[in-house]
Amino acid sequence: MKAIVQERYGSPDILEFRDVPTPTPGPGEVLVKVAAASLNARDWHVLRGDPYLSRLTFGLRRPKQPILGTDFAGVVVAGDGFEPGEEVYGEHDGAFAEYVVAPAKVVDRKPANLTFEQAAALPLAANTALQGLKDVDKGRSVLINGASGGVGTFAVQIAKARGARVTAVCSTRNVEMVAGLGADRVVDYRKEDFAATGERHDLVFDLVGNRSLRDLRRVLAPGGTLLISGGGVYEGGSLLGPIGLVLRSQLVKPLIRDEVVLLNAKPSRANLAALRGLAEAGDLTPVVDRTYPLAEAADAMRYLEGEHARAKVVLTVHAAP
Ligand SMILES: NC(=O)c1ccc[n+]([C@@H]2O[C@H](COP(=O)([O-])OP(=O)(O)OC[C@H]3O[C@@H](n4cnc5c(N)ncnc54)[C@H](OP(=O)(O)O)[C@@H]3O)[C@@H](O)[C@H]2O)c1
Repeated sequence: MKAIVQERYGSPDILEFRDVPTPTPGPGEVLVKVAAASLNARDWHVLRGDPYLSRLTFGLRRPKQPILGTDFAGVVVAGDGFEPGEEVYGEHDGAFAEYVVAPAKVVDRKPANLTFEQAAALPLAANTALQGLKDVDKGRSVLINGASGGVGTFAVQIAKARGARVTAVCSTRNVEMVAGLGADRVVDYRKEDFAATGERHDLVFDLVGNRSLRDLRRVLAPGGTLLISGGGVYEGGSLLGPIGLVLRSQLVKPLIRDEVVLLNAKPSRANLAALRGLAEAGDLTPVVDRTYPLAEAADAMRYLEGEHARAKVVLTVHAAP
């Protein structure tokens, strides 16, 4: 099969589109013929091995999994608990390929009302939003910094579906799109500083990592929660990158009353099923900015690395059956 392969860490220039053996499923696994795959910020952390500390997880000298990508939607070829031909989606390493093998526990039926491209946009980013917002309920006030990104566009919709009041922070060109997703108030960070408005929120969900802990805590209501998910490193070459903010937050944690939570979203079939429910109810619609053919994954990564893609970037692999 054809796949997008990285033999070492580096820029998108090192990616190769080439033949590799088609994987075979073992017990508890599913072989999926990939129709579409989506890109996530995680993919450029893996591609560049950045921050360096992340190589303890991804692989010290080179990535343990040489095929990039984690989000896919496609059709089951064979595997545990699924019928051949079933339309599925899921999250597992090695997704930028014509076929992917994934544990059955991170694969679920594709939302019936979504295309393969839309379904592939969901898993990692929408699951991150779902887990970050799991304790949000009606009437709570939520601020989302990075609302126009892959995770943010899902977070706005999920928070609204839960009945929260949503303040969304993004750049000028995305204000209209984010308002269209249901945000009650949109702060254009090029014109207004969300940390200086005097408004307070029960949950501050940071998806950018470009503000100090002090600024983020300044917009928390008493007893509120600051949720930290990471941040960008697109220039590459950092030891800690977004982990710096994470470490600082853990150091001050015992000294402050605000709750500071680090998000580490894990995939599961239960979460994929919950996302399917939201999508089929019309509460969650992926925003797909651009699609590229699999062979042009390096260009797609270059676009994503700019950190201003409008929500999701998707690779098309096999034509929909
Ligand atoms: N902890 C976890 O489990 C987990 C899981 C998934 C993702 N993450 C992290 O969450 C972050 C967001 O992921 P994503 O996929 O949503 O990324 P993304 O699609 O690249 O979104 C980036 C967002 O950052 C905003 N942004 C870029 N530069 C900015 C600036 N100078 N000031 C303010 N906002 C700026 C963009 O807004 P504009 O384009 O409107 O400027 C956009 O909304 C990443 O750092 C990722 O590593 C963590």
